[in-house]
Amino acid sequence: MKLAVPRESEAGETRVAATPDTVKRFIALGFEVTVEKGAGSLSRIVDAEYEAAGAKIAASTKATLADADMVLKVRRPSTAELALTKKGAIVIATMDPHGHEDAVRAMGEAGIAAFAMEFMPRITRAQVMDVLSSQANLAGYQAVIDGAAEYDRAMPMMMTAAGTVPAARVFVMGAGVAGLQAIATARRLGAVVSATDVRPAAKEQVESLGAKFIAVEDDEFKQAETAGGYAKEMSDEYKKKQAELVAAHLAKQDIVITTALIPGRPAPKLISKEMVAAMKPGAVIVDLAVERGGNVEGAEPGKIARIGDVRIVGHLNMPGRIAASASALYAKNLFAFAETLVDKDAKAIAVNWEDELVKATVLTRDGQVVHPAFAPAAG
Ligand code: NAI
Repeated sequence: MKLAVPRESEAGETRVAATPDTVKRFIALGFEVTVEKGAGSLSRIVDAEYEAAGAKIAASTKATLADADMVLKVRRPSTAELALTKKGAIVIATMDPHGHEDAVRAMGEAGIAAFAMEFMPRITRAQVMDVLSSQANLAGYQAVIDGAAEYDRAMPMMMTAAGTVPAARVFVMGAGVAGLQAIATARRLGAVVSATDVRPAAKEQVESLGAKFIAVEDDEFKQAETAGGYAKEMSDEYKKKQAELVAAHLAKQDIVITTALIPGRPAPKLISKEMVAAMKPGAVIVDLAVERGGNVEGAEPGKIARIGDVRIVGHLNMPGRIAASASALYAKNLFAFAETLVDKDAKAIAVNWEDELVKATVLTRDGQVVHPAFAPAAG
C-alpha cells in the first residue's frame, strides 16, 4: 500500500494533511509513505522530520503521486493533480463540493475514489474524524487573537497606579464550535463576553462558559434546531426582531466575532452597514463566515475593510493562520478515517462501501459521481 502526501497547491493553503506522528502510524499499518518536498514547511514541519518518521521525500508532485493507492490532501485535488493520480486511488480531503459540481465530475472522470471529510456524520464513532470541528475550534480561537491584534486597547480590565483600563466587550454571533471557542478564548483574555444564536441548545452552552446569552427567544427560536443539530434559515420576521435586539447591543461592543452558518446555504446577514456605522470608533468585527458570503455587510474576503472607524476583518482560511496546530489535528482526523479503510491483518486497502462513514463521505468511485447530493446535478 502506497500513501502520498503532496504539497498543497492552492495559493494560501498553509496546512498539510499528514504529520510525522501520523506518518509513523500509517507505516505501522503497512503503508509506504511518500511526502512531497516542502509539504509541511508552512506548518513548521521540515522534511527531515518526515524522513525520521519513515517517509520518503519526493522532489515533485508527480513523483509523490506516482503509483499512490491513497492520497491525503487538505484541499480538493486540482486538475493537474488529478492527471497525476492513478485510477482507483483513494483521495481524502476537504472537497468543498457545493457549488463546484464540475470539479466533482472531474474527479469522477479521473476514476478516483474521492472522500469529502466535511461530510463525516457527527456521531460518536466519528468524532475523532470531525474536521469541521477540529478546524472550526481553532478558527474560533484565532478570530479572537486576530480581533485583539486589531483592537487598540487591552482586553482585560487592568487596575494600575496610573488608572484603570476597562475590560473589552466581546460579542460572539453564532455559538457553534467556532463561536464557543471564541467565547472561551475571549473570556481567558479577560473580556466581558456575550453571545447569540438561534438554537435554544446554545443558551446553556454559552452560559456555562460564563458569557451572557442574548436572543429573541420566541416560538420560532424554540424550533430552530434541526434533528442534525444545525440551525434552520429563520423567517424574515424573526430576522427583523433579531436585528432590532442586536443593533442596540452592538453599539456597546468593542470586538464582535461572527460565525453564523446554515448548512448548504449562504451565511445569514446579521450586521448591516447601518449597524456597523453605529458602532464605537475603534471597534473591530471579525467575520468568520466571509468565505460563505459573510455575516457582515461590507466585509471583504481576504481583506481588513474599514467603514468609518470600524474595522471588519475578513481573513480567508482562518485555520490556515494557525497552521501548525490545524495541521496536527487535521492529520489526526484523516488518519482516524483512513485506518477504517484498511484490513489490518492483510495489510491491504479494503473499503467497506456499506459502512455509514464511507457512504456519507464518498463523492466519486469507479468513474462515477456516486454521492446522492451530487449524482443527479453532476449527471
Ligand atoms: P455551523 O458552523 O453550521 O454554524 C455556526 C453557528 O451559527 C451555529 O451554532 C448556528 O446555530 C448559528 N447560526 C445560524 N444562523 C444564525 C443566526 N441567524 N443568528 C445567530 N446564529 C446563527 O455550526 P457548527 O459549529 O458546525 O455546530 C452545529 C451543531 O453541531 C452544534 O450544536 C454543535 O454543538 C454540534 N456539533 C456536534 C458534534 C458531535 O459530534 N455530536 C460535533 C460538532 C458540533
